[in-house]
Amino acid sequence: MRLCEPPLIPVERIQKHVAELAAAIDGDADGRDYVLMAVLKGAMYFAADLSRRLETPHRLEFCRAQSYAGNESTGQVHIPIWPEKSIAGQRVLLVEDILDTGRTTAAILQRLKQEGAADTHVCALLNKPSRRVIPIPEDYVGLTIGDHFVVGYGLDYEERYRGLEAIHVLEDDGSADLDSA
Ligand code: IMP
Ligand code: MG
Repeated sequence: MRLCEPPLIPVERIQKHVAELAAAIDGDADGRDYVLMAVLKGAMYFAADLSRRLETPHRLEFCRAQSYAGNESTGQVHIPIWPEKSIAGQRVLLVEDILDTGRTTAAILQRLKQEGAADTHVCALLNKPSRRVIPIPEDYVGLTIGDHFVVGYGLDYEERYRGLEAIHVLEDDGSADLDSA
């Protein structure tokens, strides 16, 4: 796999979108509380930056949804981590790194509904609409990208590259991965 340079989305551009999303959320929330539900692990960096930008009062919660093996969606979504504290009657802002097929988001939204969330909105830094299989609400979306596999700023390929500050395209150049070499 080859990490493409320069980055697809440089640090400054990421931060500009985080600030714009926070301002849009604040404008609509009108002071009402939110539960900020970050989807681990990919949305960890985005949620941390968004939380620090938001003026809307919010509590942070985390869930984990797994639907990916390598870079292909398996179609099955498991939710192995879920907040201990009830979200019944709460307004929930689901914070995702990227909207791809929509399966993860749809599964989490369904679970939130089952557990009695009063209202749900979806916030994602990135969007790959060309890959969508299940329609999902796109309430607050930062950037639309083409059908690239991207890493960095929380996004991984087999758990690597999350710590990169910018977002890069990862290209399959036919070479073996370091781990399996
Ligand atoms: P979905 O259920 O297909 O929408 O998949 C969403 C999840 O797949 C995201 O939250 C990411 O964790 C992962 N994913 C989708 N596209 C990419 C990508 O380009 N790079 C890294 N992870 C991705
Ligand atoms: Mg992943």
